[in-house]
Amino acid sequence: MAAIIRAEHLSHIYGQGMPDASVAIQDINLSIEEGDFVGLIGSTGSGKSTLINHFNGILKPTSGKLYVAGEDMWADPRQIRKFRFLVGLVFQYPEYQLFEETVEKDIAYGPSNMGLSEEEIRRRVHSAAEMCGIDEAMLQKSPFELSGGQKRRVAIAGVIAMQPRILVLDEPAAGLDPEGRDNILSQIKAYHKQTGTTVVLVSHSMEDIAKYADKVIVMDQSRLAMYDTTEKIFARAPELLAMGLSVPQITRIFLRLRELGVDIPTDVYTMPYAVKTILKAVENKKGGAPV
Ligand SMILES: Nc1ncnc2c1ncn2[C@@H]1O[C@H](COP(=O)(O)OP(=O)(O)OP(=O)(O)O)[C@@H](O)[C@H]1O
Ligand SMILES: [Mg+2]
Repeated sequence: MAAIIRAEHLSHIYGQGMPDASVAIQDINLSIEEGDFVGLIGSTGSGKSTLINHFNGILKPTSGKLYVAGEDMWADPRQIRKFRFLVGLVFQYPEYQLFEETVEKDIAYGPSNMGLSEEEIRRRVHSAAEMCGIDEAMLQKSPFELSGGQKRRVAIAGVIAMQPRILVLDEPAAGLDPEGRDNILSQIKAYHKQTGTTVVLVSHSMEDIAKYADKVIVMDQSRLAMYDTTEKIFARAPELLAMGLSVPQITRIFLRLRELGVDIPTDVYTMPYAVKTILKAVENKKGGAPV
């Protein structure tokens, strides 16, 4: 598969040349394959938002290159708008950016800037709304009448309505209750499956990453520390813990069992796999093999 996003020696310094300059990301090299669902984790200030804000040209690299769909993004800065449509970015706390009179107009804002026909805009707005669980009645409401979770869904629908090839979401479930979190994330997962859109999801929750991502990028102190399949990342739980990150609860239980001398794998991060592994271990024990 071809890389849809490729970073080469990408670095960003805020306030370069100023006394308070700070290096936010340093020498990042990575390739994101088209169609992947990639989780992005790292402690506060590790550079997650800075990295993804480069993916659609909101931030310009201080040095290094970024290729989107094979094209050098900053080869001609006048063309940067094109990448804003190719890569849909949902910011951290996007509900603060809702401003139109109705939900419908808010979702239509992005596609309206793309030179599409009225009919095509309407079609996209309705399909994005449906995908995000927003019904007809809600479309006519003011965004300010909605709950936190609903506002979040409207903001995501506005980006989806642009039909980006890559959907990048910065903590889309932050601050929502567990039900709201699950609603939003499972809708994003369903959208990914249905459309094949590449998804990059920033999250603080290891449980969410374990549940939804196929691959995981780990940022640590402005550098890319790991990038692998979710299974392989969580098999490195001690290193994650050393970076001040947590691991899914089930992974912690398996680590502890291993410390206690039980012979089980450490790459367990989902409940179904945990159950399967335990049943297998019990089966082996019955057969006389050591557990
Ligand atoms: N606009 C800015 N101006 C100056 N420094 C910034 C700016 N935005 C971020 N930084 C600094 O860059 C570094 C990386 O920040 P960034 O927001 O990318 O981290 P993050 O991993 O997204 O953190 P969080 O988990 O809190 O969202 C931090 O040291 C931060 O203080
Ligand atoms: Mg951030």
